[in-house]
Amino acid sequence: MNIRKCTVGFAGAAGLILSAPVLAHDAGAIARGKTVFELRCAPCHGAETVARGRALPGTDALRIKYQGKLPALIEHRSDLTEPVLKTYLRRGSWSMPPFRKSELSDRDITDIAEYLEESSRKEATK
Ligand code: HEC
Repeated sequence: MNIRKCTVGFAGAAGLILSAPVLAHDAGAIARGKTVFELRCAPCHGAETVARGRALPGTDALRIKYQGKLPALIEHRSDLTEPVLKTYLRRGSWSMPPFRKSELSDRDITDIAEYLEESSRKEATK
């Protein structure tokens, strides 16, 4: 399992170098990323607690996986750069199914990455 995660991390790092120059941040992309996240990711990766009676497979799985070493909430993670995110989303990750381009475009992933960068920065400076 660790080897698999290392491979994902390495692929992410390599992708980061290859994808330079990185697009400038723009408010439109962040807003669009937030909308896509809320529609496509939040049903599993949202912030609502179990106390409200909703199961959140993503948030709950990541809470168990990282045991507090990384935030359970995707929106609080600063390590999910676009190439890392793309690797997870196109390949899937254990119980998360992969997303095809017809379901989630490359542009959607770029915009989600922009949104996550913004949301994690806000969380860090709270
Ligand atoms: C059907 C529920 C579901 C949906 C929808 C979903 N995910 Fe997931 N996601 C999961 C689960 C469950 C995991 C944990 C898999 C595991 O056990 O490693 C996960 C894992 C991840 C991971 C890996 C994090 C890590 O450190 O292992 C990322 C990144 C991620 N999701 C991002 C997203 C994004 C972005 C979206 C929206 C485009 C999304 N997910 C939509 C259920 C979902």
